[in-house]
Amino acid sequence: MDKRIKLALVGLNFGRHIIENQLLDGPGGKYVELAGICDLDAAKAKSFGEKYGVKVFESLDSILKDPEIEAVGLFTPPRGRAKLLDSIISAGKHVMTTKPFEDDPEAAMAVLKKAKNLGKVLHLNSPSPVPSDDIRQIFEWRDKYNLGQPISARWETFARYSEKSDGSWMDDPAKCPVAPIFRLGIYGINDLLQLCGNPKEIHVMHSRIFTGRPTADNAQLSIRFENGCVSSILGSFCVNNGNPYSNNLIIHFENGTVTRAILTPEFFGRTKDKVALTLQTVKGKDEKITETAFIDRAVVSGGYQWDNFHKAVRGGKLENEISPELIVNSIRVLNAMKAQQFSNASAMID
Ligand SMILES: NC(=O)c1ccc[n+]([C@@H]2O[C@H](COP(=O)([O-])OP(=O)(O)OC[C@H]3O[C@@H](n4cnc5c(N)ncnc54)[C@H](O)[C@@H]3O)[C@@H](O)[C@H]2O)c1
Repeated sequence: MDKRIKLALVGLNFGRHIIENQLLDGPGGKYVELAGICDLDAAKAKSFGEKYGVKVFESLDSILKDPEIEAVGLFTPPRGRAKLLDSIISAGKHVMTTKPFEDDPEAAMAVLKKAKNLGKVLHLNSPSPVPSDDIRQIFEWRDKYNLGQPISARWETFARYSEKSDGSWMDDPAKCPVAPIFRLGIYGINDLLQLCGNPKEIHVMHSRIFTGRPTADNAQLSIRFENGCVSSILGSFCVNNGNPYSNNLIIHFENGTVTRAILTPEFFGRTKDKVALTLQTVKGKDEKITETAFIDRAVVSGGYQWDNFHKAVRGGKLENEISPELIVNSIRVLNAMKAQQFSNASAMID
């Protein structure tokens, strides 16, 4: 393998988790070398610089001027991300960032196109640059068994948070609309956009049960797609059942159903690091077919594809890359949800 990519990481709240669980100890370390860090909070940056033994940059600009740095890991809040991404790719660096990509669809599309034109790699975890192994398996079954068009889908995730108001973007319904969907349900939106097509209409419902923040902690988003498929995405910060972030999915096609669930260790003696996909379909009149696939949790939807990042940065071609339109569609859904968050009416997506 070509040498690792020298990456400087910006934004040390969630970015800290990326450093510790993805880069220093985790799947990214094989492909990416942490070569520096940066945060607007200089004291925080200094203390993490000492902890990780890496260079501390005083600003994103100073990273962009360093010829040693090949790529930036951008883990700042979503609003205004396109502007930062633009400055990074314009300086000749590649980027790995996170969901939600932006909140402005035009700015998002412009920077995605510019990255393509400049030949710079711009990846994020959701939607991932190429369909993850679980989504690919669903496409494979769909084609192998002629499952037909998607009819309905249900996606859910949950965890139990006890957050307090801290004045951050997560307290602000304008920056973090319908919080459990914006922060966690986004993975479901991106799964369903890949599986079900172009979104046409949304409806939203939410409540606050335990949270200390002024934003919601329990919510549902419904999406109707152009082809008539209807779906719901449930997100909650209120459930503790020992198996958080399950990202469970049931999708019905005309001729079959696929479910995706995280296995608990009790199932078949496997660890909960596996995700189980099952297909139920029929052949001919009444021959029932069931298939099951087990996929490592590290490579299911929502994961960071460091291997593909490395391949693309080193000039390799990725097969089945997702389109910029899909990334932008997810922003259009989020914006329709934001517009409807305090109304009971549904919203059309033009
Ligand atoms: N918090 C999570 O559990 C989580 C999980 C997955 C993904 N994410 C995503 O990660 C992103 C960041 O989330 P967060 O929770 O860390 O947000 P946050 O607002 O809590 O932290 C962002 C950090 O980035 C720094 N920062 C902002 N702009 C900067 C700039 N221009 N230069 C240098 N530093 C800058 C801030 O000082 C802060 O430390 C969001 O898109 C979020 O959806 C968060």
